[in-house]
Amino acid sequence: MKKYKVGYTQGTFDLFHIGHLNLLNNAKKLCDYLIVGVNTDRLVKEYKCKDTIIKQKDRIEIVANIKAVDEVILTDTLDKLVVLDKIKFDVIFIGDDWKNNERWINTKNELAEKKIDVVFLPYTKRVSTTKITKICNK
Ligand code: CTP
Repeated sequence: MKKYKVGYTQGTFDLFHIGHLNLLNNAKKLCDYLIVGVNTDRLVKEYKCKDTIIKQKDRIEIVANIKAVDEVILTDTLDKLVVLDKIKFDVIFIGDDWKNNERWINTKNELAEKKIDVVFLPYTKRVSTTKITKICNK
């Protein structure tokens, strides 16, 4: 039985890879309806200080066509309370590479007050957009 009704996860999903797929499939195992926020190119530039390789129009289309995904939105903020004003969800999923991150510790506390869970899912080791980019630039 699935634990949650509506799940939310957010990321850049640039150069979509197996780590992204595992995260989305694992999230969907725990909720009936999975909404994915795809970070805008502007937001990525702001917080990762780099340009996306695949632009938001294509990234959102790729994510929308993943079997586990029920709905996609473009997100221009990292503030999950702002997202919560626009769409309702009862859990947020994120890879456990973020588990000790200060922003996520704060997010977990803020959302707990609203009875929304943050669930850290296993990060897929050895692959990331950054690693792929480095190999391509060798
Ligand atoms: N993720 C994962 N396993 C990976 C890479 C990403 O579980 N190997 C998860 C992240 O924890 C996040 C989501 O996938 O919940 C989107 O991550 P994103 O930042 O878009 O992907 P990365 O490959 O980590 O990108 P970058 O290298 O630019 O940080």
